[in-house]
Amino acid sequence: MIRLGVNIDHIATLRQARQENFPDPVAAARECLAGGADGVVCHLREDRRHIQDKDVIRLCRLKTRLDLEMAATPAMLKIALQIKPDMVTIVPEKRAELTTEGGLDVVRHRQALKPIVEKLQRSGILVSLFVDPEKRQIVESAGLLADFIELHTGKYARASYIKGRTSSVKRELEKIGLATQQARLMGLRVNAGHGLDYENVGDIVRIPGIEELNIGFSIIARSVIVGMKNAVAEMRRAMR
Ligand code: PXP
Repeated sequence: MIRLGVNIDHIATLRQARQENFPDPVAAARECLAGGADGVVCHLREDRRHIQDKDVIRLCRLKTRLDLEMAATPAMLKIALQIKPDMVTIVPEKRAELTTEGGLDVVRHRQALKPIVEKLQRSGILVSLFVDPEKRQIVESAGLLADFIELHTGKYARASYIKGRTSSVKRELEKIGLATQQARLMGLRVNAGHGLDYENVGDIVRIPGIEELNIGFSIIARSVIVGMKNAVAEMRRAMR
């Protein structure tokens, strides 16, 4: 069964909107686990717009797998080495974006990424690189000896939101399927995520070789209506 990591950033977005102490991302993470999540994901952004350093420390103490998304900067590396999440997913980060818009350009940033990947791995942290489903990015990720790649499913998701875009949806699914195969052949383990929701997740689940999906926005949005535990349980059912 493909695993589900729930990204709880937007619980913190809500808290930060009023600069209050609630809702608590750690309490939300516990509900996610009760609903059937296999792990928790959070993104510590450089501008700290949602998740704060203290959230990551507390999330790390939960008895579950924590995947910390972060930019490849010396400051973030220092934090990760101190907090020691189970896994770090390195993502590109732009201040002005609403969400992580594209994959990491591993080809371009190979030299800068190499020592960061090595230092994280040396301290026992698994490293995943968030990349677009493109062969050259996968080849470079394998060259860096990353443990995982996470395939950016944003283009597939965008195509799936528009009714009648079946040929684009099919094309993007094929790209993700091929990229998964290529990565596995090169010794990389494969996760996927971004923009996945209750409707479009089914076709991604059918791709062989993907170990885990990381899903945030659609689950948090649904939780406003049905509660966090139910929202996660519904996603688990959609993934069957
Ligand atoms: N995976 C990565 C690497 C991400 O940066 C994000 C967004 O924070 C997600 C998955 C989840 O995307 P969404 O919130 O669209 O489900």
